[in-house]
Order: sequence, then C-alpha cells, then structure tokens
Amino acid sequence: MAPSFVGVGVGPGDPELLTLRAASVLRGADRVFGPTMALDAVGRAESIVRQAVPDVAVERLVFAIVEDDDARRAAHEVAAERVIACLGAGERVAFVTLGDPNVYSTFHHLAALVVARRPATVVETVPGIMAFQDLAARSRTVLVDGNERLHLVSAASGLDALEVPLADPDAAIVVYKGGRHLPAIAARLAAAGRLDGAVCGELLGLPGQRVAAVEELAGGRAAYLASVVVPPRRAGTRAGPG
Ligand SMILES: C[S@@+](CC[C@H](N)C(=O)[O-])C[C@H]1O[C@@H](n2cnc3c(N)ncnc32)[C@H](O)[C@@H]1O
Repeated sequence: MAPSFVGVGVGPGDPELLTLRAASVLRGADRVFGPTMALDAVGRAESIVRQAVPDVAVERLVFAIVEDDDARRAAHEVAAERVIACLGAGERVAFVTLGDPNVYSTFHHLAALVVARRPATVVETVPGIMAFQDLAARSRTVLVDGNERLHLVSAASGLDALEVPLADPDAAIVVYKGGRHLPAIAARLAAAGRLDGAVCGELLGLPGQRVAAVEELAGGRAAYLASVVVPPRRAGTRAGPG
C-alpha cells in the first residue's frame, strides 16, 4: 500500500462480505480510522473489521449526526486534522466505511477536506459490497436483466425521490435511507402497482436483521440501516392501479 489516504469499503454487515483486497489493504495500513457517533462507541464499520480482520486496530473519528451544519463541519475538520497529522508522519492511512466508499459515504467529504489542506495527498478507494446487493441475494431478487434499468435513490428527504424511477416500469429501484418512511414508501409503491416483489432488508448482516416483503413490514418504521429493492414490473407480476 503506497502512502495515501484510502477509503475501504467493508460491506454492509456480514464480516464474510469484507473482500480479500479490503483485508489486505487494512493489514498493510499504518493507521486505520473508523467513523463513530462517540469515542466510547464501536462504529458499525469498526465492528465488521473486528470480526473479519481482528488483528487490525481501528482508531475512532467522531462523526455525530447533528442537524447543525456548523457543528457537523467542525467535527469533520477535527477528523481531517487527525488524518493529516498521520499522513504528515508518513503513515499509510485507511478509513473504513459501510458498503462501498463511493456510494453515499462520509469518506469523500473527509477526503476533500484532507486534500484541500494537503493537496499532495493521493486518494484511493477499495470497493465494497453494497447493502442492496446483499439484499438482492438474500431475497433471491434478480435486480436487472436485458435492457432494464436500475435507479438508486436516497429517501432521506422524503418520497419525491421515487417519482422519476416509478415513471419507468422497466427499472428496478433501490431505496436507501428510507427506513423511517417505510409505511409511506409501501403506500406509494402500492399506488404505482409496484409492491409485488418489493423487499426490505433491515440491519443486513447485523444483529436484529430482518428481510421481508415491504408489504409485511409496512406497519411501522424501520431502522436507518434499511434498504428497499423494487424489481422492474415484469410479465407475470401483478399489475397495479398506477
Ligand atoms: C450512508 S448510506 C451508506 C451506503 C453504503 N456506502 C453502501 O455502499 O451501501 C446508509 C444507507 O445504506 C443502506 N445500508 C447500509 N448498510 C445497511 C445494512 N447493513 N442493512 C440495510 N441497509 C443498509 C441503508 O439504506 C442506509 O440508510
């Protein structure tokens, strides 16, 4: 591993889904950082590393989820300074992230801050298996075939994100960050005739995992770590009113 700042995807939860390359890069790093909500709390990514590569120690960087933009920026700045100090000391530095580091990850925000202050920094990433891939496998869902399309959307700001993909019946839809909107997502899919085959995976590979039809789980909110997969409307699947 060259002296660079590397974002390493560790998969969604199951330690067996951390790749051989991720394990080798983590073992070759002088310093491995992991995000956490508090210094005395083991982050999800750190917990996966502990199980998959127990010989690797993870140093925590606090990224509290706060509404206040200034407070969040301040936490990121503190984390960036710590990374820069290690890079300045000639260390090979890795940062672990759930799933893939190039998909809805804190890594690139942190890397941008580091590069802004230390432009010579080489940034690299090691791909990781994503939650929706794990969910497709566990639920035996063929995501896309032939000319079908795939939309990956975030429902963090609500259901508007579903409008464009739902207009395309030949597209599979993956919904991230929609756990707290699960009942509304289920209602929207039902209205569009897309509930058939739609599955939700909560805490995949982690304690408390649930994998079930969206229809079954629609009675309540799911956790933040929940993903929904909606297959394209294929011949033979139920047509809805939408
Ligand atoms: C900040 S994004 C991280 C995405 C991650 N980088 C990836 O490649 O899958 C967080 C969202 O990813 C999904 N997610 C990540 N890990 C998950 C898991 N173990 N089970 C279910 N969903 C998960 C959820 O939709 C969650 O709201």
